[in-house]
Amino acid sequence: MKKLTENPFKFGDPVQGDYYFPRPELSSSVKQFLENRVHVVLMGPRRFGKTSFVLELFRALEKAGYTCLLVDIFNVTSHRDFLHQFIRALRQKPGFGNRLKAWWRKIRNLVPEFSLDLDSFTGNASLGFSLGQLSDEDVKAAIQDLLDELSGLGEKVIVGLDEFQQISLLEDKGWLEASVRTHFQKLPNVSFLFTGSRKGLISEMLNDPARPLYRSCQVIQFPSFESDFSDWVISRFGKVGIKCQKEAIDHLRKLVQDTPNYVQMICFHLVAMARQEVNISNVEEALEMVARQNAYAYQTLLNSLTAAQQRTLRLAANESKALFQKEFLVKYEISSAPALYNSMKALKMKGILDEEGTTKGKVLFDDPLFAYWLRMNFSI
Ligand SMILES: Nc1ncnc2c1ncn2[C@@H]1O[C@H](COP(=O)(O)OP(=O)(O)O)[C@@H](O)[C@H]1O
Ligand SMILES: [Mg+2]
Repeated sequence: MKKLTENPFKFGDPVQGDYYFPRPELSSSVKQFLENRVHVVLMGPRRFGKTSFVLELFRALEKAGYTCLLVDIFNVTSHRDFLHQFIRALRQKPGFGNRLKAWWRKIRNLVPEFSLDLDSFTGNASLGFSLGQLSDEDVKAAIQDLLDELSGLGEKVIVGLDEFQQISLLEDKGWLEASVRTHFQKLPNVSFLFTGSRKGLISEMLNDPARPLYRSCQVIQFPSFESDFSDWVISRFGKVGIKCQKEAIDHLRKLVQDTPNYVQMICFHLVAMARQEVNISNVEEALEMVARQNAYAYQTLLNSLTAAQQRTLRLAANESKALFQKEFLVKYEISSAPALYNSMKALKMKGILDEEGTTKGKVLFDDPLFAYWLRMNFSI
């Protein structure tokens, strides 16, 4: 039975059902590519709804007879982690048990001293420890083999790698990138769908002729929501009897760089605060409250940066365009344009800032709430 007081907003984890505002156009264009075996890179900022979208798409594709596998590699730091995540995803696939067993027997032949019973693979036992017994060479061989097995998942298979730019950070001289690339050819019934949130890393991977994945995928920009998203949010408020002004949601969306996660988070708090009506100043109040709650984390992050990087962040948070103009350098005590450039580069490497697709001299914050907090505390 549903509780009457259920909050109509959710944030943090991927959403589905009533909490998910559908994206039918994006869905059909991605589907078209995958059905025609064009591998797709879906690129969009973090917390923009990529994972939710892929899960929704995979549910639809499964109904249409595809076998879909989504591997989350956001926190992968090594080949072993990658293998671990892959096996975790595979274990959840019904009917893959036999394949996994076959693969397992091969690995056993490869590494006879590796003793682990099969149930740890097909059951729920933790894998981390057992994989720890394998050397990196063995892990690599195991990954190759496992990739080979993917075509056996079904007649038509789609494999998703979520946050796939991580593979470019592995310092393996492109080994994993190359292995994935090789399997584009080796697996005629498998289409790949990659999602990524770090534009800089992804364009390097795809646009450098020396890299294995050079021009191998169709890149699709994950679009921002349009005005009907605000209408949807208003109707969600309506479910719990709250009247919400459209300007308030449009304003909120602008302040959080149109990030649906933060739109839902702020709306969640507005419902929890038991507002009867929602207007622009309520939205700002809720945003401030949430930003303050994160102050400790933001302060810690700032303390880990150089003075020049901190000033660069203040500049980026407060000014919206033409960041390199002389006036701003003076105002924010930045010694020179090259110094600003270098700080920005370092902040992008750390994943705190990212490039804005089209406009030169503009940057995006990975976390728009952090930008909001900086403005609250350091506006000049
Ligand atoms: N289509 C959508 N409709 C409504 N809210 C969404 C949608 N997609 C994402 N969100 C919001 O964003 C949050 C993060 O979504 P997620 O799919 O995890 O993003 P990403 O994978 O890009 O980081 C969700 O918890 C939800 O609040
Ligand atoms: Mg995600």
